[in-house]
Amino acid sequence: MANHLPPKGELLYEGKGKQVFRTADPETLVLAFKDTATAFDGRKRSELADKGRINNAINDHLMAYLGERGIPVHHLGRVGVAESAVRNLEMLPVEAVVRNVVAGSLARRLGRAEGEPLSRPIFELYYKSDELGDPLVNEFHALAFGWAAEDELRRMTELAFQVNDVLHPLFAAGGLTLVDYKLEFGRFRGELYLGDELTPDGCRLWESATGEKLDKDRFRRDLGDVLEGYRAIGRRLGVDL
Ligand code: TMP
Ligand code: ASP
Repeated sequence: MANHLPPKGELLYEGKGKQVFRTADPETLVLAFKDTATAFDGRKRSELADKGRINNAINDHLMAYLGERGIPVHHLGRVGVAESAVRNLEMLPVEAVVRNVVAGSLARRLGRAEGEPLSRPIFELYYKSDELGDPLVNEFHALAFGWAAEDELRRMTELAFQVNDVLHPLFAAGGLTLVDYKLEFGRFRGELYLGDELTPDGCRLWESATGEKLDKDRFRRDLGDVLEGYRAIGRRLGVDL
C-alpha cells in the first residue's frame, strides 16, 4: 500500500459507487469504493458487504497494469482497504464504451443476439446523465455541445482501443472474455488521463469456457451471488483478495 500518499480530507462528491475526498494536495484525490451496488441509473440498488474492498483491489491491479504499459492513468496507489489515491482530473461529461462481443444495450438496440462476436471492436460515446439514462451520442454531439475538443476525442478513442489491446489478452490469459467495458477520461496538466475505475461494476466479463457471467450483470439480472463472480475475476487475475 502506498502510505506516502496524502490522507483524505473533506468529502468533495458522493457518487453511486464511490465517494471522492480532497487531500492536502489539490492535485490528488482519494476515491473510496462503496459497498453499494446500483444499476439502471440508480433505480436498482443494494448493499453488498465487501464489494468496496474487492473492487479497490481489482481496480488497483488493472490500473497499475495499464500504467506500467504506458497508458496515462489517474491511479496513484491504494491508500486503504477500499480507498485509492488518484490524480485530480477535470472529467469529461462523455464516457467511452468498447465492445468486443454483442451484449446489453447493443443487443437490444440493434436486435442482435447476446454473445455474437464482433469482427472488430466497437467504440461508443455516452453522455453522462442519470436523468437522461446515459444516452448514446457521437463525436458531433460532443463537439457541438463543447463536451470535448476534437483532439481529445481522437485521444480518447486511441486510448480506449489501447486499453483493449492490453486488457483483452490479460483477461484471456485468466480464462475470461472481456465482452465490453466503460471508460471515463479527464484532463490533467494539459493531457487526457484514464479516470474513474476498472472493476466488474463497469465491465462485462464472461468465463470463456462456460460463458458464465461474472460481472455486474449478476446484479442487474439477479443471476446469483454477485460477489462470488467478482471474487472469481480477482482470483483469475491473480489479485490478492
Ligand atoms: P450497456 O450494454 O448497458 O451499454 O453497457 C456496456 C458496458 O459499459 C457494460 O459493461 C456496462 C458499462 N457501462 C457502465 O458501467 N456505465 C454506464 O453508464 C454505461 C452506459 C455503460
Ligand atoms: N448504466 C449502468 C448500469 O446499468 C450504470 C448505471 O446505471 O448507473 O449499470
